[in-house]
Amino acid sequence: MGMQSVAVACGALTLCLALTTATNPGFVVRITQAGLDYAQEQAIASLEKKLAQLKLPDISGDSRVLRVGKVHYELSRLRLRDFHLPYSRITPISNKGLQVSISNAFAELDGDWRVKFLFIRDHGSFDLRVENIYIKILLRLGSDTSGKPTISTPDCSAHISKVRVLFSGKLGWLYNLFHSVIERRLRKILEDKVCDKVAMSVYNELQTYIRTLPVTARIDDKIGIDYSLVAPPRATAQSLDADLKGEFYSLGHRSPVPFSPLPLAFPSDHERMVYFGASSYFFNTAGIAYHEAGALVFEITEAMIPKDVEFKLNTSVFSAFIPQLEEKYPNMPMKFRASTPTAPFLTVGEGGISFQPIVDVQAYAILPNSSLAPLFLLSLTGNVSAVINVRSGRIVGSLDVGRIRLSLKDSAVGTFQVRMMQSLINILTSSTLLPRLNARLDEGFPLPLLDRIQLSNILVRFHQNFLLLGADVRFQPRR
Ligand SMILES: *[C@@H]1O[C@H](CO)[C@@H](O)[C@H](O)[C@H]1NC(C)=O
Ligand SMILES: *[C@@H]1O[C@H](CO)[C@@H](O)[C@H](O)[C@H]1NC(C)=O
Ligand SMILES: *[C@@H]1O[C@H](CO)[C@@H](O)[C@H](O)[C@H]1NC(C)=O
Repeated sequence: MGMQSVAVACGALTLCLALTTATNPGFVVRITQAGLDYAQEQAIASLEKKLAQLKLPDISGDSRVLRVGKVHYELSRLRLRDFHLPYSRITPISNKGLQVSISNAFAELDGDWRVKFLFIRDHGSFDLRVENIYIKILLRLGSDTSGKPTISTPDCSAHISKVRVLFSGKLGWLYNLFHSVIERRLRKILEDKVCDKVAMSVYNELQTYIRTLPVTARIDDKIGIDYSLVAPPRATAQSLDADLKGEFYSLGHRSPVPFSPLPLAFPSDHERMVYFGASSYFFNTAGIAYHEAGALVFEITEAMIPKDVEFKLNTSVFSAFIPQLEEKYPNMPMKFRASTPTAPFLTVGEGGISFQPIVDVQAYAILPNSSLAPLFLLSLTGNVSAVINVRSGRIVGSLDVGRIRLSLKDSAVGTFQVRMMQSLINILTSSTLLPRLNARLDEGFPLPLLDRIQLSNILVRFHQNFLLLGADVRFQPRR
């Protein structure tokens, strides 16, 4: 759209509003304080290890010491023995990001010292304890053009209020005369290095990790789910929310969805670490994608009917309802082809997920030369409800069909009373079609989870227009 047409469109206030309103997400992920706390535990443990690997430069200089004169000193082979981050807190800050505050951290180092003054040279080792380290980090989340999350540290400050160095060796006493000079220098070096290391860890580890979000989750060779971010993740006072597109699409041919997601009225639940909101948009794009990919076409043949069903799919059986079959296609096997003339439209409400699909069922006789003779076309409809659960990080479901209503849409073998066929069709549907659909739904659809995340303590709740899933999270370390 050119500049001019935007200006024209904005002339009418309502249109302008429609153009500037951000896209509603089809899927929302909310990380609560409990989830942030868990994430922080994992991240701090990793940061502790990274900080313990800090490399510190050698230090040298001259210092004037009373009655001794100019002393040249060198500190070398500085080695961090450990770095402890015992207290930390992560807080979402509305519209800014996540604030990580680390307090009372401490570290221990050792190294070698060397001094030169007058005609004297000596060397020894030292131990250093750094205490009361305060680190404050602001993490800002964003999204890139592919809809993957990004993370940066626009702000980091480290403050050390206590450095104690202990020199041993014959001339250790000498160092202790000007320890404050050295302590000041070491403090400055450490304060800078800590923030450098934090920025590097966030970029190398955290960003790499959060980019494992599967923004395009491939389900099979036909269908994918678009989980790309539609906006940068949003910090509120209580949580971190990520708005995702949440749209199923056909891998072969993606067409624009003819409707938009409605806003989700997310409840303020916060017991679980993470909540997922899957809108009716999400489910309806699934219907469209599967319909358009031709995945909602099912052939029903004699071979598919379970052995325990006393029922044959042949013209002798059906001629009981349609006398003309007997003379036109005597004693021939039959085949049914079920398909959806339009994509099913689902409703998500407080009572659950339900829909009234229309399924066309075309019946054929299989002629001796294997070609198919169309017999009649039935239209089936009924109330279908879905039971939803989460298993292995996937949304799984199963469908339950109420009474099926039949109507005859077309017939090549004259009209007949479809009502008579009701129980036969019920058996066919419940013994062949439904188990196939449910087997597929039982494989489930992947939730947008980062690598090595396992969900537990699942909660499933229905709200107007969306399904709310809650879970606790466990990070599986690499073995
Ligand atoms: C059709 O079904 C009837 C009843 O089950 C059976 O007796 C007959 O052999 C079947 N015919 C064919 C061609 O399968
Ligand atoms: C199969 O047989 C039917 C009827 O006998 C005939 O009309 C049709 O052309 C045949 N099809 C093929 C592929 O031979
Ligand atoms: C489906 O449910 C609605 C309301 O619960 C009802 O009015 C309708 O008759 C049902 N349809 C069928 C085919 O059972």
